[in-house]
Amino acid sequence: MNDQSKPGSAKSKLSRTLVVEVARVTEAAAIASARWTGRGNVKAADKAAVDAMRRELGDVSIRGTVVIGEGEMDEAPMLYIGEKLGTGDGPEVDIAVDPLEGTTLCAKDMPNALAVLAIAEHGGLLHAPDMYMDKIAVGPGYSAGVVDLDNSVEDNLNALAKAKGVKVNEITACILDRARHAKLIEDVRKVGASVRLITDGDIAGVVWTTDPAETGIDIYMGSGGAPEGVLAAAVLRCIGGQMQGRLLPSNEEETARARTMGIEDINKKFELEDMAAGDVMFAATGITDGSLLDGVRFHNDFAETETIVMRAKTGTVRRIKTQFRRIGHRFVG
Ligand code: FBP
Repeated sequence: MNDQSKPGSAKSKLSRTLVVEVARVTEAAAIASARWTGRGNVKAADKAAVDAMRRELGDVSIRGTVVIGEGEMDEAPMLYIGEKLGTGDGPEVDIAVDPLEGTTLCAKDMPNALAVLAIAEHGGLLHAPDMYMDKIAVGPGYSAGVVDLDNSVEDNLNALAKAKGVKVNEITACILDRARHAKLIEDVRKVGASVRLITDGDIAGVVWTTDPAETGIDIYMGSGGAPEGVLAAAVLRCIGGQMQGRLLPSNEEETARARTMGIEDINKKFELEDMAAGDVMFAATGITDGSLLDGVRFHNDFAETETIVMRAKTGTVRRIKTQFRRIGHRFVG
């Protein structure tokens, strides 16, 4: 597995003020979708986030192309793959969006729904098709290759426990609670490690591995969306950690789709830097309350958001609390 990037090692085309711009984009998406929290309407919540994110991205000084978005041009009216966004001035960048990560979490008012965005220098993000990806991730501080997608569950957990200096029964793996993971969950427990099951939201699942002392999670394992895999890789490029992913096409059509997106070897094991390379910025704003971020709070005359924004080049991580004044029915920032 590759070691993480070396912050500051190359000249970046991204201006540091862009950090604030990306935060503004996820803030707007979070406020828009938060109005739909707990209303059981997955589509409306997602549409609100998409509309707001696209509107805000239009004002950012970039020449951006969506590489991870809401789908292909013929299936998504906005934020489709290949859509050009930004003012047309500024650096040429790849954009990966997940305007509402955890649509069900938002619709059911469950923890950890997020508005998420990553921006990288042109060519920096894997053009991951919308299919499953097998993932494995650990946080910073371990030697390169401590775990590997091709190793058995037992070998990975024992190696991680050894590297951490604990018994394997002190290791916790975060896994999406899905029938397809029954064997994986059984294998983890058989080795003696414990499992934290999550109902949705595996970007947060990967992020939790970066602070096991706080979250209690040492490793993320299992399959989830490939686009979410790339966004999670963008986070680890900024704050450290290791991750590998491999696409899991479920039919010939998905394999062909991956090819048209430039992925020749469908069995390729993607290393962290294959998924997110060069200078990368990542922002996430909480929609519902979660362990990563507070959700949007609506008050009489203002709304409040919490955002985390980070950059690979410098390794900077900022937490931003923002208040937006209400003007009529809108909150403006
Ligand atoms: P949505 O926001 O698109 O609903 O995705 C939520 C999510 O839990 C992702 O975090 C995860 O990668 C994916 O769904 C897993 O897919 P599935 O629900 O099909 O197992």
